[in-house]
Amino acid sequence: MSQTLFINATLASMQDESGYGLRQQAALLVDGDKIAWVGNMAERPTPDAAAVIDCRQRLLTPGLIDCHTHLVYGGDRADEFELRLEGASYAEIAASGGGIVSTVNATRAASEELLFTEALPRIRALLAEGVTTLEIKSGYGLDSDNEIKMLRVAARLANEFKLRVQKTFLGAHALPPEYQGRADDYITLVCEEMLPRAQREGLVDAVDVFIESIAFDLAQGERVLACAQAMGLPVKAHVEQLSDLGGAAMAAGRGALSVDHLEYLNAADVGKLAASGAVAVLLPGAYYVLRETQLPPIAALREQRVPIALATDANPGSSPVHSLLLIMNMACTLFRLTPAEALRGVTLNAARALGLDNDIGSLETGKQADIVLWDVTRPSMLSYRLGVNPCAAVMQGGQWRHPGAPL
Ligand code: NIG
Ligand code: FE
Repeated sequence: MSQTLFINATLASMQDESGYGLRQQAALLVDGDKIAWVGNMAERPTPDAAAVIDCRQRLLTPGLIDCHTHLVYGGDRADEFELRLEGASYAEIAASGGGIVSTVNATRAASEELLFTEALPRIRALLAEGVTTLEIKSGYGLDSDNEIKMLRVAARLANEFKLRVQKTFLGAHALPPEYQGRADDYITLVCEEMLPRAQREGLVDAVDVFIESIAFDLAQGERVLACAQAMGLPVKAHVEQLSDLGGAAMAAGRGALSVDHLEYLNAADVGKLAASGAVAVLLPGAYYVLRETQLPPIAALREQRVPIALATDANPGSSPVHSLLLIMNMACTLFRLTPAEALRGVTLNAARALGLDNDIGSLETGKQADIVLWDVTRPSMLSYRLGVNPCAAVMQGGQWRHPGAPL
């Protein structure tokens, strides 16, 4: 098995509860697909056959994790962007048959091949900035065949890029037009037909639901989560994005891995998240694009030690954003996260939001060797600059993403 020894590194292990877990003059040994040793240069092992990478004080971090995306979809919503700039709200556009439903129409009309091809540049943009694990949701098919089509594309992207992709079934993302006025019947279809079939085909790692005035109510959302759990699947939920329907408390009470968005989360419900261990996934891209002004209850989340993750929420409507570095900057600038919280949000806490923190998310002995070498010497640089990509090299599962070791 091949070995790689990184020397003279500035290393942000992200393994502690706060800060970067920063080490100067660090070394790290990769053996096969795992991290075998992390420590100070002076104590480093001296394996015979390891390839040696001299980091020259540059920064090593865990591979970045984008734990909430809707990366596979048909069409675009540039027209809606213009309408919103002219004053229409996201909810108004949804109510008049645009929004998510317009992407559903375009996704249904697209072949699997076209969905795959159109997702390529989006995924390449994320990978170029050091993403090694990605979550992709369904939710623009809204019938069995089309939800399966989306999840197959997600599986194919994982294969194509030798990337870890977690596939989340979001059949209850919006009410499809053919079920207008029959939301409960649609939830029955989701629970009894769509989700079981997607699971039989091995395409589901977790189940999500959108609980909101423009989507499903609390009881409908809970039905979806309950049927997913009866099938042994982990759950998560889009909640409190535009209003407070109590979705976060309900999902946390059911042991959800994460609750996502949270701008309208009531500070009184933060304790319920803390008690449950659910991760709060914040999506500053959607906050920014929708020109939201209501901030998530950051201080309460921080005080009650709810783990905070960040994600692009890459989707054609509320967050056409394909840069996790930009999201880190937005989280600092718009939400006042610290750069250390931002980096934790796209590494260890993002791993938690996917239930993968035993394997990935920090630079620790025994974890997967998903490692990024950055052309910076301080981790705050990753959040501080906009529009510069300092990613020098990416190792995924012990293999360099591009042939040849970095200089
Ligand atoms: O996470 N909130 C619901 N779903 C997506 C938006 C999807 C869309 O607008 O197409 C989100 O923001
Ligand atoms: Fe989303």
